Amino acid sequence: MNGAIFFSSKYGSTAQYAHWMGQATGLPVFNIKNHNADIAKYDFLVLGSPIIYYKLSIHKWVKRHLAKLADKPIIFFSVSGAGAGSRLDGWIADSLPEDFISRMHHVALRGRQIPEQLSFYDRTMLKIAALVNKDPVARKQEFEGFDFMDKASIEPILELVGQFQLSKVVT
Ligand SMILES: Cc1cc2nc3c(=O)[nH]c(=O)nc-3n(C[C@H](O)[C@H](O)[C@H](O)COP(=O)(O)O)c2cc1C
Repeated sequence: MNGAIFFSSKYGSTAQYAHWMGQATGLPVFNIKNHNADIAKYDFLVLGSPIIYYKLSIHKWVKRHLAKLADKPIIFFSVSGAGAGSRLDGWIADSLPEDFISRMHHVALRGRQIPEQLSFYDRTMLKIAALVNKDPVARKQEFEGFDFMDKASIEPILELVGQFQLSKVVT
């Protein structure tokens, strides 16, 4: 089967993961902001999005293309400060339709947040969030930033892509 990678990214870490996946798999990589690529051309899709303010930034795009995505296998990677767990699952549930979530293969990756690279608005909002955050680890990350980028963490996605590439299209 023939696939493609579509991503959204605000500060570049999701883009970095998407390009690592593109290099490793040979799949074309599209930033949803710049490309109106034809989803219908592909048998399966890898979709990637960061969590920004408790939501997947790709959520509107998914809803807009829901009909075209309905019949395709989806590998979905989220990129966030928080690791896999109930908080991340809750943000994803708030972002995407339930039936879409139930049939996608989700892999949680962790990203990067460098305070000096953020817009003034985002830096200020994250400082305010840190002040009211009761979780000391999350609070420190919101204040000081973090870098969890790890090329090896895309391995489960590469495995899934390999399986889809080998399988035949069922018509
Ligand atoms: C404005 C802003 C809001 C964020 N909100 C969250 C959040 O709600 N939960 C979380 O786990 N990480 C959050 N993060 C961390 C991002 O998910 C992380 O930095 C990610 O790597 C950003 O992806 P990008 O570089 O592709 O934009 C936030 C980061 C920024 C800059």
